[in-house]
Amino acid sequence: MELLDTMLMTPGPVHLDSEVLLAGARQLRHHRTNDFAPIYKECVELLKKFFGTTQHLYLTTSSGTGGMETAVANLFNEGETVLTVQTGVFGVRFTQICEAFRLKPVVLKCEDGKAVTIDQIDEALKKHPEISGITVTFNETSTGICNDIQAIGNFLKDKGKILIVDGVSGLGALPFKMDDWHVDVTVSASQKGFLAPPGVGMVALSDKAWKKVETVKCHGYYFDLKLYKRDQEQAIPAYPWTPAINVMFSLQEALRKIDRIGLDNCIKHYAKLAGGLRAGLKALGLKLFTEEKATSNVLTVFYAPEGIAPKEIVSEMRNKYGILIAGGQEQFAATLLRITTIGAIGERDLLGTIALLEMILKKKGYLKQTGAGINAMMDYFLKHE
Ligand SMILES: Cc1ncc(COP(=O)(O)O)c(C=O)c1O
Repeated sequence: MELLDTMLMTPGPVHLDSEVLLAGARQLRHHRTNDFAPIYKECVELLKKFFGTTQHLYLTTSSGTGGMETAVANLFNEGETVLTVQTGVFGVRFTQICEAFRLKPVVLKCEDGKAVTIDQIDEALKKHPEISGITVTFNETSTGICNDIQAIGNFLKDKGKILIVDGVSGLGALPFKMDDWHVDVTVSASQKGFLAPPGVGMVALSDKAWKKVETVKCHGYYFDLKLYKRDQEQAIPAYPWTPAINVMFSLQEALRKIDRIGLDNCIKHYAKLAGGLRAGLKALGLKLFTEEKATSNVLTVFYAPEGIAPKEIVSEMRNKYGILIAGGQEQFAATLLRITTIGAIGERDLLGTIALLEMILKKKGYLKQTGAGINAMMDYFLKHE
């Protein structure tokens, strides 16, 4: 419907509020002056707070993949062995980045819809004692799995390995404590839980990880963290190249807002929305993809009813009703649908989404009657006011 602008119910980029968007529309400030330095510093300080770290944090002009690449390029020498845990598409991406830098990835592929277990990691480490680092996705956006990083960090803490966590879609949306959980490197990006437009990547490192960085010759130039550290420590803290200045205006506004509301309250809000969505989908008889104990509150992944292609539902939701939900990625494209519960969204948006989904499912013959999903969702929200 042309009158409507499209509401993003996708797991990143997410729907943003207009104050954040308008903050990015301000006149530029030069990035090597004291006009800009306080913005850069404030973003770094607030992000450290939200990552749960007091150690090192650098921003990259990139999306999350640039942050993942930065981590691998700075932490490992060619030929080192890295265990790459795959619980979906983004776990595979880390394997591919390791291959691109001629490391030796050992792949730990988990069963579809299931989180990685400590036993699986233990077994891989016993089989390959030469492993020097491990990559794990915190919130796997392709499958809705939340891996237990706290347990993994505790298990690895005295083993001398570097634990790298892809927190691109989990940070800002799920509880995460980098230092307490013994994570060495955490990667994230601006466009998901941090409620800003895409364009800023984030890489946080422990002192232990930094010591390793000092021994590695970075693969490449643009993402060489030694240059980022050098410039961040100047009298006017700066970024080595021209940053995404306007995205950082928006990011500052968004981070301030999260801080004002309280990160824990944002996390609780998303948990409530996710609970309501799951209740609604179950009431419609739709099958959830992710094992319950590892289900994330960032998004809910579920099977489209048999005989209805996910892309038909996605396009009708978007073209007729102005709401963009996501289909499954890659091998899941023919079966799965994904709806997010993070962003500048609330109950009104989830209720609208499920009502429209019900209308489509009725038109397509899956539902005889509408109402079960929205009723279950309303009951859930009322019970969790
Ligand atoms: C878990 C996860 N990791 C990595 C990425 C890649 O991030 P980007 O698309 O910002 O490069 C995404 C993006 O969807 C993601 O959800």
